[in-house]
Order: sequence, then C-alpha cells, then structure tokens
Amino acid sequence: MGNVILIGFMGCGKTTVGFRLSYRLRKPVTDTDKEIEREEKRSISDIFATDGEEYFRRKETDCLRKLIKSVRNHIISVGGGLPMREVNRQLLHELGQVFYLRAEAETIYERLRGDTTRPLLQCSDPKERIRSLMEQRDEYYMEASDAVIQVDGKSFEQILNEIEAEYLNKFK
Ligand code: S3P
Repeated sequence: MGNVILIGFMGCGKTTVGFRLSYRLRKPVTDTDKEIEREEKRSISDIFATDGEEYFRRKETDCLRKLIKSVRNHIISVGGGLPMREVNRQLLHELGQVFYLRAEAETIYERLRGDTTRPLLQCSDPKERIRSLMEQRDEYYMEASDAVIQVDGKSFEQILNEIEAEYLNKFK
C-alpha cells in the first residue's frame, strides 16, 4: 500500500515527524485524531467528555478500516492509544509499514508539561500517569511495529534520516 505509519506515546513527535516526512517523501499526510475530529465535528477532549473513551476507541477502529479502503502512499500518524486494541494492531499491519517513535517517560513529561489537550493526562500526577501508561503500552507498540526509532535527545532531522534509511532499505 506504500503507507508509512507512525505510532508511539502522546508527545513522541508523531504529528511533527509526519508533516516533515510528508514533505521529504512527497506523500500526503493523514492523522487519525484529525480525521476523527473532522468527522465528529468536535475535539478529542469533547468526545472523551461527552461520550467517553470507549466511544473514541471504536471511532479509531472505524477510522483505520476507512483508511485501508481509501489511502495509498500516505504518511499516517495515529493516536497514542490506538495500537492497544488487538484488532487495531492487525489493521495497522494491513495498512502499511509501521514505525514506533519510542521515547522515555521523562522526555514525554517535559514535552507535554502544561498540555490541556490530552484528556488522559488531566490528572493530579501526570508524570506518574505517563510512566504507568508507558509501562503498559510499550509491549503493544513493539508488537504493532516493523521498526523502532528511539527519539530521545534527537533532532527531527536525525529522526527523519533514520526513518528514511529504514524505509528505503527495507520497504521500497
Ligand atoms: C491518546 C492519545 C492522543 C489522542 C487521545 C488519546 C492516548 O493522541 O488520541 O487523547 O490514549 O494515548 P496523540 O498521541 O496524538 O497525542
């Protein structure tokens, strides 16, 4: 299908890397959160607050199914929790080559300090929440991915170079 998919924890850089990679590889970029917000005509925070997380998770699976039918040669960044569902991990593999942007909890905490757009981190101890969610999630990200890019301390340029090298070596 020629799609390049970026997965990883909130704040690992999927959206920015997606945009830059899109420019570099000359492929259009798609983001599952943005697709869901566009379709639902409301923000992720509104969806969580009004209909709850389960509803949002079903929308993520619907979104992947639609993308499988409709996109070729895209860069696709996906919400941080999407690979937690087994069905979604299978759908990701069908959709394209999956890159896991892997970061330490400390890196994520520093990047997302003060962020109000992630409902799961609006709690009294976001640092601890990040640490425990990451501990639960890492194995699923690993299972869902074809390649892992460790992003801590790297510039976007370095990350893009690594993805491009992997992509060109393995997948073209
Ligand atoms: C979530 C990550 C968010 C968004 C929602 C839930 C998660 O996307 O889908 O807030 O469960 O990790 P980003 O990873 O783009 O922040």
